Amino acid sequence: MRLIDTHTHLDFPHFKKDRAEVLRRAEKAGVQYIVNVGSNLRSSIDSIELSKQYQHIYATVGIHPHDAKDLDQGVLEKLAELVKEKKVVAVGEIGLDYHYEHSPRDIQREAFRKQLQLALAVDLPVVIHSREAEQDTLRILREAGSSNLRGIMHCFSGSLAMAKNCLALGFFLAFGGVITFNNAVELRNVVKTVPLERILIETDCPYLTPHPHRGKRNEPAYVKLVAEQIALIKGITLEEVAAITSENAGKLYRI
Ligand code: NI
Repeated sequence: MRLIDTHTHLDFPHFKKDRAEVLRRAEKAGVQYIVNVGSNLRSSIDSIELSKQYQHIYATVGIHPHDAKDLDQGVLEKLAELVKEKKVVAVGEIGLDYHYEHSPRDIQREAFRKQLQLALAVDLPVVIHSREAEQDTLRILREAGSSNLRGIMHCFSGSLAMAKNCLALGFFLAFGGVITFNNAVELRNVVKTVPLERILIETDCPYLTPHPHRGKRNEPAYVKLVAEQIALIKGITLEEVAAITSENAGKLYRI
């Protein structure tokens, strides 16, 4: 069995002391590949560093909506250089976060659009972060308006209607630890509806730790708990979930 954790932040200080051990546990749990996601210029560069250090780690580069205010022309040019690195497999995470609003909304939208254009220019998929901004996210994705735009709705926790809209755009939905939470009844219903061929699994570690480790630091080994939950919801085996979600991730990220 092989699993792919399609969204991690292993460059974060949470893993500074024991990253090697964390990676060993991931391997033991069947995690074959890991995609480490950039969220600002620093973490984008650090993600690439990790991908150079470990054969099975890939990287994405992008400016998170929280940091959208930092995306000036210089940063955009730097990103345009970084996307050319060999193991960079996507632009992300990018998108809109109207919950925290660490950057003003109009600036978030502008940064989102610019990075969608960057992804299209180099034919890479996008990793989308969308929180309390469903309508604007959809609108901007549609306005980007190219059938070449491919991507992932990261940590999907939206409504069934949103899921259907994202599927119609050709996007994959990535599910994480949240689907294991007791109160995630509606989200599990969404999982039931989405075809397995369009599902990816992720941890978003160190955040969103699945049950029964909720409250502790998350790590890639726990992506297996997400896969198990999907198997349970869909009434299929863990091996099937592992095989198909890995195939999906391989196709989208081209790894
Ligand atoms: Ni993330």
